[in-house]
Amino acid sequence: MGMLDGKVAIVTGAGHGIGRGHAMELAKHGAKVVVNDLGGSVTGEGEGRDADQTVGIIEERGGEAVANYENVADHEGAGRMVAQAVDTWGRLDVLVTNAGIVRDSAIWNMSEADFDAVMAVHIKGMWSPCHHAARHWRSVNKETGQPVGGRVITTTSGAGLVGNFGQTNYATAKAGVAGFTQTLSLELWRLGVTVNAVGPAAATRITATMPGAPDVIEPDDVPEDEWNRMDPAVSSPLVAWLASDESSHVTGQVIRAVAEDIILMTGWTNGAQISNGGKRWDATKLGTQLATDVFGTRAPGLRY
Ligand SMILES: NC(=O)c1ccc[n+]([C@@H]2O[C@H](COP(=O)([O-])OP(=O)(O)OC[C@H]3O[C@@H](n4cnc5c(N)ncnc54)[C@H](O)[C@@H]3O)[C@@H](O)[C@H]2O)c1
Repeated sequence: MGMLDGKVAIVTGAGHGIGRGHAMELAKHGAKVVVNDLGGSVTGEGEGRDADQTVGIIEERGGEAVANYENVADHEGAGRMVAQAVDTWGRLDVLVTNAGIVRDSAIWNMSEADFDAVMAVHIKGMWSPCHHAARHWRSVNKETGQPVGGRVITTTSGAGLVGNFGQTNYATAKAGVAGFTQTLSLELWRLGVTVNAVGPAAATRITATMPGAPDVIEPDDVPEDEWNRMDPAVSSPLVAWLASDESSHVTGQVIRAVAEDIILMTGWTNGAQISNGGKRWDATKLGTQLATDVFGTRAPGLRY
């Protein structure tokens, strides 16, 4: 008996890398998987049938999967992808939004097209599938009057949570993923749907674009009983658990899964605070008071 038996999942961008690892792991635990991938380059050009490779691996290992070649940033294409899951297997339980591209450079060298392309895949390519899945779950909930037990797992990154030089487009998108996850978790809780973000790390096509990065590994290159800290599938057990019924109490969380570590990110919280007793602040006096009572000398991120 698998922990995901009877579940139907969509994993976007599952033709390679981390998404392929998630699709393989979900199928291993019994889920039927729609393997989505546009099949373009790491910078988002072109298209292909890369999803077929992942479907082949899952079927070889005794699982069930179908390919989907939609561009997740195409709103109607995202709708067709959600419909494919429901038409093929009669339901949708899990949506993993993982598809991604990079177009790195310092902001002064980054073109508008580089910004727009990255935002389209990571932000619209997350929002649109979630929109269609949410509409599906809402109609099931209305029909049955029962919580639907759905799961959304989004994909963020250290760049969006703590910053990374050369990635103003990608970091903006990945910070947006975290904010979106928290808000969508509030909207879908009443339907019985949890929404959490995972921040993985692995040697994939995306990291291979960075100087000094290790060679690309695909998750099926790593034998199942072998540990490789850069295996794209290292975060997949966490995704499988978040996809399962066991995680029904966990929502709105941002969790990094880096090699053997699982790290709950705690995000923005109120820090030191000063108050001017119902009066407008005087800018010429603020510097001293902020230095003394707010920033001190050790506030994170201060650069003297
Ligand atoms: N590799 C890392 O260390 C790392 C770290 C943090 C976050 N991530 C995130 O993990 C996710 C997976 O990236 P990866 O590292 O496995 O890279 P990857 O290139 O191996 O996989 C990304 C997949 O997304 C697909 N894709 C791209 N645009 C698409 C679109 N519009 N529609 C459908 N599919 C599309 C690509 O074809 C590719 O197969 C991304 O969201 C990435 O930002 C990766």
